[in-house]
Amino acid sequence: MSRERESIGVIGTGYVGLVTAAGFAELGHDVHCVDIDAAKVQRLRDGEVPIYEPGLADVIAANRERLHFSTELAGALEGARLLFVAVGTPPTYSGDADLAAIYAVVDALPKPSRNGHAIVMKSTVPCGTGVAIQRRFGEQGKESFGYVSCPEFLKEGAAVEDFRHPNRVVIGDDGGWAGDAVAALYEPLGSPVVRTDISSAEMVKLASNAFLSTKISFINEIANVCEAVGADVGEVARGMGLDERIGPHFLRPGIGFGGSCFPKDVAALKQLAGNSGYHFQLLTAVIEVNELQKRRVVAKLQKHLGSIVGKRVALLGLAFKPHTDDMREASSLVLAARLLADGAAVRAYDPVAEEQARQLMPRGVEFSASALGALDGANAAVLVTEWSEFCELDWDAVAQRMTGRLIVDGRNALDPEAVRRAGLSYEGIGRR
Ligand code: UGA
Repeated sequence: MSRERESIGVIGTGYVGLVTAAGFAELGHDVHCVDIDAAKVQRLRDGEVPIYEPGLADVIAANRERLHFSTELAGALEGARLLFVAVGTPPTYSGDADLAAIYAVVDALPKPSRNGHAIVMKSTVPCGTGVAIQRRFGEQGKESFGYVSCPEFLKEGAAVEDFRHPNRVVIGDDGGWAGDAVAALYEPLGSPVVRTDISSAEMVKLASNAFLSTKISFINEIANVCEAVGADVGEVARGMGLDERIGPHFLRPGIGFGGSCFPKDVAALKQLAGNSGYHFQLLTAVIEVNELQKRRVVAKLQKHLGSIVGKRVALLGLAFKPHTDDMREASSLVLAARLLADGAAVRAYDPVAEEQARQLMPRGVEFSASALGALDGANAAVLVTEWSEFCELDWDAVAQRMTGRLIVDGRNALDPEAVRRAGLSYEGIGRR
């Protein structure tokens, strides 16, 4: 396989597109990024990075001369033989993935003047999409476009490192030069490569996210049972995780998984199965457990406070997980809405997600510029996102600021003893 410098196109400059573009630029390739959002393209040209992703701005700055930003698809196509597609596939009301942005790209691609172009699908799509796109290319006289499925496994907040050190690279194609060309691009990273057909590659992505979500819902249910029987879920997860067949990862209980991927992909796989005549019962439960888990916090507050009408609750952290400002499907959204609906007053603080949160949080939520500000006069606090600054809080100072005593640790991230030493009551998730 060659390690020659390629010219690559990346369509869509969201977090997958930008990280992929920056990663390939770091590997020495020329990357032409295209986005329909002219304002965003201008910001990128001006050297701004429109998303919060640790380390990404540095990689973009260091490889600036190999990164080109434009709104013109044709320009990217001219120079690049591989066009990575990384546009959004949000869920629709039915639970199916919305492929409108993908088909807008497919339809906008001009007939290639020569053979030797391929699109490489990074966006998460239902099984069968690759075959459908190849058919569409045929209908449009663009059958010379190759098609490769190369699903993305980056985690937000650790995406740059995940690009550099992937657990695996999955490449689905039906023979021909394009799959080999994609494999050659990833070869310097030295990770295992799974070469397979297009539909199987699409399924690897959906099944991986669905399995990880299942692990989380499973440990959340174990945590709930631990609470009922007096066991400690941390000890249970440690004991389970040492079995190599189970593994230690994704066994952290909490107040539910969120983000732009797990909720959407679990729903999409369930829907895909349903559309094909198969009722995926397990995933129905995974989704339901996750929804209930977000709401269990309210019961914990009621257990300690009695009625929460008129009580002030501080939310520490809003993003769906730390190291990101992403608020999509964040548990904080459901929790805040439930608390307000039950008559509580909510004051929230997140170190980076406030701007995003202001757009999505229900009306009535107050925002604070600091953790202690959010805790001022609070009857109870809920740790929603395990940012490290919350683990380092001065609990004596917290106790002085709060009117009440209750700290609900929604991520089992705090030191219960440190909290209790300050005279506060601690309530975790399945923790003894
Ligand atoms: C997830 C996958 O981990 C990536 O492999 C995948 O590429 C990505 O989706 C995607 O499809 O694009 P991400 O959504 O960034 O990545 O976040 P995760 O770190 O996986 O966390 C997802 C949610 O699960 C968070 O809300 C987190 O708090 C929760 N979680 C995670 C738990 O509640 N417990 C755990 O043990 C782990």
